[in-house]
Amino acid sequence: MNRRKFIIASVAAAVAIALLKPDDNGGPYSPYFSALNNDLKSNGNSLPNMLIDLDKLDLNIQALQALLNPKTDLRLVAKSLPSPELLGYIMDKAATNKLMVFHLPFLTHIAQTYPDSDLLFGKPMPAKAAESFYQQHTAEHAFKPEKQLQWLIDSEPRLQQYLALAKSQQIKLQVNIEIDVGLHRGGLQRAQELDALITLIEQNPSYLRFSGFMGYDPHVVKLPSIIKSADEAYQESQTIYQSFIERLYAINNNYKNQKLCFNGAGSPTIAMHNSNTVANELSAGSCLVKPTDFDLPSLESFTAAAYISTPVLKKMAGTQIPAIEMAKNILPLWDANMQQTFFIYGGKWLAKYEAPSGLQNNGLFGPSTNQDMVNGSNKIDIGVDDHVFLRPSQSESVFLQFGDLLIVRNQIIQQSWSILKQV
Ligand SMILES: Cc1ncc(COP(=O)(O)O)c(C=O)c1O
Repeated sequence: MNRRKFIIASVAAAVAIALLKPDDNGGPYSPYFSALNNDLKSNGNSLPNMLIDLDKLDLNIQALQALLNPKTDLRLVAKSLPSPELLGYIMDKAATNKLMVFHLPFLTHIAQTYPDSDLLFGKPMPAKAAESFYQQHTAEHAFKPEKQLQWLIDSEPRLQQYLALAKSQQIKLQVNIEIDVGLHRGGLQRAQELDALITLIEQNPSYLRFSGFMGYDPHVVKLPSIIKSADEAYQESQTIYQSFIERLYAINNNYKNQKLCFNGAGSPTIAMHNSNTVANELSAGSCLVKPTDFDLPSLESFTAAAYISTPVLKKMAGTQIPAIEMAKNILPLWDANMQQTFFIYGGKWLAKYEAPSGLQNNGLFGPSTNQDMVNGSNKIDIGVDDHVFLRPSQSESVFLQFGDLLIVRNQIIQQSWSILKQV
């Protein structure tokens, strides 16, 4: 290599290194998280917790009401807000008694806690699981399943199983039929398939009542736009939904005069149903607490309202990794975000670091559910017993990992709310 080529190669290498070298992302708490940290240190339990910010939740309830199609009812998705008090708070503010349930123990709990609620299953339950509900549920209960609960049925064989259950228990079941509006997660795919199910229901009026359709459409906003635009996918899903409604009326025109539940949407698409929808009720849950998976353009008007807080157990300078201890002060030369190491209480949640800014996991050390290693630059000025804050990427499973929710207003812990029983 001649001198000229050597200089060019050296400059190119220096530029490449400068471009690849990670930025220093560290920074102090914002005033919001600083206040939360102070209150948690004074009044908290110094354990990992899931916090719900009621001020932000209130804003999200308003945002949801602002974009809800005024011709539709709102059905809250219980699995995404899995706390009886949280559900009660939102049902009150949003003036709805409609909930979508996905887990049998949640059904039992909700039916007892909110006996006036109107419940629709969001997934088909094995008939044996449904049977266990009726074994616990007696006629004295205020909640009346024959009027207030719709089981989701995705196929004729499942309908046969539910008919057998109804006959064996001498009960009447409300049947909502799952339709596939493009997600392909199950349910009837063609409107003609409806005929056999409706016939079976109508042949057994003492045991079964048709109560409506459920067509869930989150794929609409998740398809790459190069394949299909969200508007096009939405129109297609609506056309499919409409074809089932028309088939139903063609089978028996009397259904037009009945109060049926045509359930649709979910947080990702609820805004698309705003001006025109064939559904008469729309479901949403996650958008009200907005985990990171819901950072979608369609949910821009919502704000994060749930955070994990967890104390720092240990703080160390540099980054020490077993067997490459000599790299302790070299790693931070490459990545300033490795200037400090924190070990936190717990970890490896489905969540992203939120505050202070610039925290990151260490891929060399590996994750831990017991004491996760977290790195950050010297611009992060927290110490042992301060708190690290993360945003869950989803609510439905992450909320279940911390015990009671800590309820915050004005950055002060107000109370704790229980989590729905999982068994
Ligand atoms: C049938 C059904 N409807 C609606 C939803 C929407 O829930 P969320 O608003 O929490 O995304 C879901 C989520 O899984 C679902 O399965």
